[in-house]
Amino acid sequence: MDQQDIIIIGGGAAGLMCAAEAGRRGRRVWVIESANKLGKKILMSGGGRCNFTNLHASPDNYLSDNPHFCRSALSRYTQWDFIALVQKHGIAYHEKELGQLFCDQSSKQILAMLVAECQASGVRLTTGCGVESVRATHPGFELQTSQGAARCESLVIASGGLSIPKMGATGFGFDLARQFGHEILPTRAGLVPLTFSGRPLEQIDGLAGLSTPVRASTETQQFTNAALLTHRGMSGPAILQISSYWQAGQPLHLDWLPQIDIAQALLRAKRDQPQTTIDAWLQAQLPKRLAQRLSQWLGLNRVFQHCSDAELRTIARQLEHWPVPASGTEGYRTAEVTLGGIDTRGLSSKTMESKLCPGLYCIGEVVDVTGHLGGFNFQWAWSSAVAAAQHC
Ligand code: FDA
Repeated sequence: MDQQDIIIIGGGAAGLMCAAEAGRRGRRVWVIESANKLGKKILMSGGGRCNFTNLHASPDNYLSDNPHFCRSALSRYTQWDFIALVQKHGIAYHEKELGQLFCDQSSKQILAMLVAECQASGVRLTTGCGVESVRATHPGFELQTSQGAARCESLVIASGGLSIPKMGATGFGFDLARQFGHEILPTRAGLVPLTFSGRPLEQIDGLAGLSTPVRASTETQQFTNAALLTHRGMSGPAILQISSYWQAGQPLHLDWLPQIDIAQALLRAKRDQPQTTIDAWLQAQLPKRLAQRLSQWLGLNRVFQHCSDAELRTIARQLEHWPVPASGTEGYRTAEVTLGGIDTRGLSSKTMESKLCPGLYCIGEVVDVTGHLGGFNFQWAWSSAVAAAQHC
């Protein structure tokens, strides 16, 4: 029977990083990847340029039922460590906005870098191999794979979340962790476009493709960035970010002009251009078709001088606090990440080792740690992977 020190289930971001680091420590490592290619999500990430980390990554950029869990791993393998690795491989990169680092050329370079690191540490990489079952042998584990049986001392679950099922995402990692007694916190799609239905969907007809800066807010969180109208609802960075904090039925609001104090601006416009319509004023602030539609919804085809200051303040509140009529999300089909997952209370935050089953490690997206949009999810993959690799 094939005997390894470490078997890693999943040849994605976390799995490859863990393999490279553990291999460097002289451990015999086998990465088992069920898809026909390694790192498919790395390849499609960041629009093909992989937003591989964020200059400002800190625990505040993560959602988890246990918000302190990510702290240790993130502080021991930081964005600066990953940037140093990228530089060592001569990969050119740039900051797009808000600390987000992208490859100048292609995501393929990040995958090639990880594979090269694995090869340099003697890691065995197998694609198209499914893990069928796992049994704890105390110590170690015995696996049945589609390529035969194997044994290992340490087993790492790095099989990712449920997003993009057509790329092979399954709940395998959750089922396996559950088999060893781990609790799985409810999962849902995160960083995902919102959908409208019924009348709200009719109301945005013809606006698809329009984009404008907004502040999107729930009761607990807010993000200022671009929102994009789509054929089915709304997307864009501000909407993707807030989607991780929102669930159907909860209030969600947009400020259509986050860069200005709308009430002050309307009162000033009334003083300076009393004959102008509010509709015309709005068209100067927002994409024209969007402004026209908002004017229809809010009845803004009125001349400033016919509006009292109180009415203008009400209009300002409506533009600052527009209730987004979303009925749901696009779901895992297009979500960038899965919220929830393996409860971190069952894992060591220093090593990612299971507290319930010695020798079992869980890293990356399968764990209940989810980053904001902007390179934070890959940083969690790298940091959690290195934490496990240094111990297993
Ligand atoms: P990941 O999903 O990368 O890898 C898991 C691997 O396990 C997969 O290769 C899967 O095939 C394999 N697997 C599953 N079950 C298995 C089994 N039973 N046996 C063997 N193998 C199995 N993040 C970011 O920071 N910056 C970005 O630019 C983007 N962009 C982006 C775009 C799109 C379209 C998506 C969908 C996601 C992103 N992300 C992102 C999120 C990022 O891709 C994600 O957080 C990481 O890939 C998670 O890394 P993991 O290794 O945990 O899972």
